[in-house]
Amino acid sequence: MKILVSKKMFGHSLLIFIIVCLTGAILFPFTTNIYVLCTILIIQYIILLIILFYFYNKYIKPIDKATRTMEKLLKGNYHARIHHQMDGSIGELSIKINELARSLNELKIQEQIQAEQLSTIIENSDNGLILIDEKGYIHIVNRKFISMFENTPQDYIGYLYYEVIENEEIHHTIQETFLREKTVKQLISIAENGERFYYEIISAPIFNEINLLKGTVLAVYDITEFKLVETMRKDFVANVSHELKTPITSIRGFAETLLDGAIHDTNTRNYFLSIIFEESKRIQYLIEDLLILSKLEKEAYRLHVSKIDFQVLLNDILPVLKISAQKKNIELEVHVDTNSTFQADEEKMKQVLINLLTNAISYSLENGQVSLKVTETSEDICFIVKDNGIGMGKQFLPRIFERFYRIDKDRSRDTGGTGLGLAIVKHIVEIHDGKIDVESELGKGTTFYVYIPKNVKLKK
Ligand SMILES: Nc1ncnc2c1ncn2[C@@H]1O[C@H](COP(=O)(O)OP(=O)(O)O)[C@@H](O)[C@H]1O
Ligand SMILES: [Mg+2]
Repeated sequence: MKILVSKKMFGHSLLIFIIVCLTGAILFPFTTNIYVLCTILIIQYIILLIILFYFYNKYIKPIDKATRTMEKLLKGNYHARIHHQMDGSIGELSIKINELARSLNELKIQEQIQAEQLSTIIENSDNGLILIDEKGYIHIVNRKFISMFENTPQDYIGYLYYEVIENEEIHHTIQETFLREKTVKQLISIAENGERFYYEIISAPIFNEINLLKGTVLAVYDITEFKLVETMRKDFVANVSHELKTPITSIRGFAETLLDGAIHDTNTRNYFLSIIFEESKRIQYLIEDLLILSKLEKEAYRLHVSKIDFQVLLNDILPVLKISAQKKNIELEVHVDTNSTFQADEEKMKQVLINLLTNAISYSLENGQVSLKVTETSEDICFIVKDNGIGMGKQFLPRIFERFYRIDKDRSRDTGGTGLGLAIVKHIVEIHDGKIDVESELGKGTTFYVYIPKNVKLKK
């Protein structure tokens, strides 16, 4: 019934009705019995309706369905299918349309996956990314970019880049890319909340299939850390050169004076030679410490860890230290309050204790007291190096572990210090996963605490 009610069918049935009426009108003059004519016309109408029904079901309906399915596919609904059993070429057509729909659906899914993957990469990239079209409108911007230039996420998309990006240098980089149609690199520095950040900006043009400029991709790399390391290295080289320059100038000066005649005066000669000797020792110490530091940096992950026997460790380092302590009549006391053994790099631990005890002796006055105490906590072995020497002002404590940092340069020089001793100590403690603390009071003395984990975890 439904089929008859459908608009198309109603039209066709009406057409058949008209044909039947016309047949009736043609036959009427030749008919004697009106009832016979009516019966014939009704039978004709029924037969024609059956034929119509047959053709509708076999050809018109499937083509209608195929057309509707194609319309849905065109609109992007790739789930549309033809669910109609059909034979012959129309059946084949519907199978092909269903196959096409399935392929389109798979393509759409793949496209979605790819788009999601791409957006995940863009969003989670460690570098700021932004895509700008040829008219200057922003199409894509990632989280990193927003966090680099704004404190709160802001909607960049759909805006002109020069309306939402404040930095003029970035504008120039983009403009140059559009102008020269070439990749442009630029280094910028931005001050934010009292800190300086360094960024490398690379703006690359995008072209379409016929080589017309379609826009630009801007990548922003945060190179602040790299810059800091570079600055530190430059400072380090400058410091080393400066530290070497002083003794070398002095050696050269005294050698020249000796050559100019001073060599003939025994007293002057001996005095000058002793200075040359002391200065050359300073150079030697400096080079030795520099080599230790550079070795530590190279070997940071290759500690030669072994079980340490405190007695052996102390017997190896104490004799030399006792000699320097005796020279200043300093009492050097040693207490070992632990039976635990621990694992560490023995040579490096010796270096830590030598540097700390040498400082304690160097920065103590005559008749002072220096002590080394070895204790333990539940996790660490603790070395406490204490002196009652000159001490340090609190304001200096945060900087004493820096390379070449010395509170009193002249005093440090007089004691043969290179300014690298505590930097070396800190480095060694850190590669053992340990910790170092300092307490000091000017004029009263200093205590260094070194904590080394009993089970040193080797960094791989
Ligand atoms: N025990 C200490 N007492 C007082 N000052 C110290 C002590 N240890 C270190 N310092 C200060 O810390 C600075 C850095 O020490 P260090 O790195 O060993 O260099 P250096 O001893 O070669 O000068 C020293 O110059 C000194 O001013
Ligand atoms: Mg020192």
